[in-house]
Formats: sequence, structure tokens, C-alpha cells
Amino acid sequence: MTTSASETIESAFLRQQPVKMLIGGQWVEAASGKTFETLNPATGKVLAHVAEGDAEDINRAVAAARKAFESGPWPKMTPSQRGRLLWRVAELIEEHADELAMLETLDNGKPIKYSKASDVPLTADHFRYFAGWATKIEGETIPVSIPNMLTYTLREPLGVVGQIIPWNFPMQMASWKLAPALAAGNTVILKPAEQTPLTALRIGELICEAGFPDGVVNIVPGYGHTAGAALAAHLDVDKIAFTGSTEVGKKILQASAGNLKKITLELGGKSPNIIFPDADLKWAVRGALTAIYFNSGQICTAGSRLFVHQSIYDETISQMAEAAAAMKVGEGVDPATEMGPVITQEQLDRVSGYIETGRREGATARAGGERVGGDLADGFFLRPTVLDQVTDEMTVAREEIFGPVVVALPFEEIEEVAARANRSIYGLAAGVWTSDIKKAHKMVSLLKSGVVWVNTYNQFDAAAPFGGYRQSGYGREMGHAVLDAYTQIKTAWINLR
Ligand code: NAI
Ligand code: MG
Repeated sequence: MTTSASETIESAFLRQQPVKMLIGGQWVEAASGKTFETLNPATGKVLAHVAEGDAEDINRAVAAARKAFESGPWPKMTPSQRGRLLWRVAELIEEHADELAMLETLDNGKPIKYSKASDVPLTADHFRYFAGWATKIEGETIPVSIPNMLTYTLREPLGVVGQIIPWNFPMQMASWKLAPALAAGNTVILKPAEQTPLTALRIGELICEAGFPDGVVNIVPGYGHTAGAALAAHLDVDKIAFTGSTEVGKKILQASAGNLKKITLELGGKSPNIIFPDADLKWAVRGALTAIYFNSGQICTAGSRLFVHQSIYDETISQMAEAAAAMKVGEGVDPATEMGPVITQEQLDRVSGYIETGRREGATARAGGERVGGDLADGFFLRPTVLDQVTDEMTVAREEIFGPVVVALPFEEIEEVAARANRSIYGLAAGVWTSDIKKAHKMVSLLKSGVVWVNTYNQFDAAAPFGGYRQSGYGREMGHAVLDAYTQIKTAWINLR
């Protein structure tokens, strides 16, 4: 499909520009009147103008969220009523599935086949899963050793929650943040990434349509160092949930000190993906391709360090390089596209810089290594890249690249590869490919990461907890584990004497 084709596919949402922000149930312009541009990464052209939130808009949104938390219909709603609202959002997302998938593909660049098959259904599923939890957030009765006391706990919402999300899975990240916070009875200010604000704002419209009371969900698009920083530092915000870079995660933590707000962080990774000689090689290679090239490698769990046993190394890397070279890179709107562009010129430069550094330090590109020209020269396209002749000490083997670049590393022994895999500041995810059940469990126990996938990769489900060890973050999202991050425990002592 050509550039003009992607330009003619527009959702009704894009016709009402500039796109406004949601504060206190109203769609409003920024207090400053400013707007910013969001681009289509496949064409490099402006897709929409969006209200640019800053500190003043964050102040208004926090005031609206505080008011909605303390008074009005929201605190009086029953858990069942909250659950119904969340369920209705899931239904509305499904009713608008095609539109949301196209909007996500235009704003982020990802292939439409994945927006349709993965981003939209998983987003809807997240709301539906947490709709069910609204009625199941239970306290306990505690058998204290003091006579005549009835002691029990309540799980109460934290209050006003700020949520800051990245551009790689804009819609799914919005659902990971909003659904559990709302199930637990909090009110929210969501700040989408400046590169991809559109689907979160469209979901904001669906949230209003579902019937959430004014001010329960506020969505303020804007830049990180302005709107994001103001939200992170705000003294009337009780918690920040953040997904993004480790560097910004540390800033969020510092900014939280003012009022000791609670923090959860989903940060970067440099995840090992390990192929043993007894693996089914055909599936292992397919898995390794998905692990690194899904979403153009812009996923915190990217299997970016591919460890392959010495005895099958040459064959495996040849197969990887051949398959990478054969991948269809193109505009996301083309149904045949397997890999879209990276998000921005800045990201293209960052990833290209890593490839250059790799070469300078002695790596060779067995596939890819360059930008895509021709019809795609205006977009931010890179070829899927396989780097060989890499050592653990090289920059490309240590730092998160966040692009379609895998480094290949041979190994010999199970203990050796586990130790090398664990030698990272990160600990988000890991993959293991083997047909030996004992080896699989041994690796699960040896690998220091928040998730280990065996004979599969990049699996996510609303019911399965997700989060990082070490500098990959604090806390867990998804599953009931996330409810700990959106509630606080109150202990009640009743003297029955
Ligand atoms: P980033 O961490 O700057 O952006 C993520 C979110 O944080 C955005 O909404 C941004 O506006 C906001 N933000 C930025 N600075 C802030 C501040 N001082 N206070 C509050 N909020 C702030 O990530 P960026 O610059 O887009 O990407 C840089 C690198 O970060 C990538 O190359 C990748 O390595 C990593 N990254 C990791 C992600 C993940 O899923 N773990 C997602 C996005 C980026
Ligand atoms: Mg965009």
C-alpha cells in the first residue's frame, strides 16, 4: 500500500482537530492554548494536532480527580456498578475495534494485522478482566491473640493516581494503567506519550460514553518534561504508575519524595533468549524472530540478547539472518506488512547509532544494519538486524537498543549461560528453548527476571503478573498482583467486650 493510501484512511476522530484533552468530564483546549503535532511514523507527516497539556492543565486535572474521589457519585458507587462500567468500556472498544486498530497503526506505525489481532482485543480484555475484580477486592479477618477483639482489614483505594505511559503500545498501556486503578475505586490522570496520544484520547471518549462520572478519568496529553514532570511532582497525587525508560523512572522516584507518593515502575530490559541444542530449531528461530522484531523491537521484553549453543550456533544464526532479510518491512496500513517503522527520527538515529557503535567495537551485521530507502525513505524504517561477532562486554550487548537489532552470542554450558544472562542491570524477561523438561525448570529457577518464557516468547495475558527484577522496575502489573499497587490496607480493631 502506498503513502496516499495511508493518508486516505482516516478515522472520524481525526477530523475534529485539534484533538482536545479530557478534564473533569469536559473536552478542553490547553490552558496555554498550545498544541503539538503527532506524526505518522510511516510517512513522517503530521497526523494530528493535539492540545499540549502543561503544569496548569495537570493542576486542573488533579483538582477534578480529587473532587471526583472525595464527593459526587464515584465514592458512593458499589463495586458491582464500577465493574459494569469497566465491562461497558470493553464492549465499546470491541464495537470500535477497526477504528481503534487503524488509529493505533497510523499513530504508532505498527502493522495493522497486529493492531487488530493483538492490541485491540488485549485492550478490551484488560478492561473485562478488571471489571470482574471490582467485586473481589477483599480484606481479611485476623485471629489476633488479644481476647474479645474482632480485627479485620479493608482494602481501600489510594486516591488520585497519576499514570504516565510510553508510545510502544499506546492503547494497551492505557488499559494496563486505567482498568485496575478504576476497579479499585481510584480516580486517574493519564498522560499518554507525546508521540502517540490518539488512541488513549479516543478511549477517553468511550469511557465518557460508558457513563463514568466526571473527573474519574482525566487524560492530559503533553510532553514528559512538562506535563509528565508536573504530574510526578504534584503534592495532591497519591501514586504514580509509570512505564518507560529507566532514566525517567529514576526521575519519577525522585519527584515522588515531596509527598512520598507510592510508585510503580515498568522500565527497560535487555532480555536474554537462550537456545539449547535440544530445542526444536525451526520453532526456536521463529520464536527468536518474534522476540526481537515484534513491534520493531520496541518492546521492553525484546529478546535482544540471543544466546545460542556453540554446537548449533552457525546454523541458527544463518537461519535467523536469512529470515530477517526476508521479512516484509512496510507501512503498517498494508495488511502484508510484518514489521513497521520505528517511532520517530530520534529513535531511528538512536538505534542506528547503536548499530554503528556495535560495528566500531567489532560486531558484524549478518542481516540488516541500515535504513530502508526507496518508497519508504520518508518514514522511519530500519531493516531487521542481526549482529554477530559480539561479546558480552560490548555496548550493544549491555544497553537497551529498543529497535529491531538482536545480538547473537554463543555459549557452552547451562550454568555459564545462566550467569551471563543474569549479568545485566535489567531483569525483565527471558526466553528458553529446549525439549528437556528438567533443563527448562532449572533455567526458570536460575534466571533472575520477572518473567521466563519456555518454548514461546512475548506472551501476555491480563491474568498473568508482569514486572521486573533489578532496574527493570518496582511492582507488578496484570493479574490480581496489580491490585496491591492500587489499594491500601486499613486494619480495624473492634472491642467486643
Ligand atoms: P521516556 O521514558 O522519556 O517516555 C515515557 C513516558 O514518560 C512518556 O509519556 C514521556 O512523556 C514521559 N516522560 C519523559 N520524561 C519525563 C519526566 N521527566 N517526568 C515525567 N514523565 C516523563 O522514553 P522515550 O524518551 O520515549 O524513549 C527512550 C528510551 O526509553 C527508549 O529507547 C527505550 O529504551 C526506553 N523506553 C522503554 C519503554 C518500555 O516499555 N519499558 C517504553 C518507551 C521507552
Ligand atoms: Mg505518532
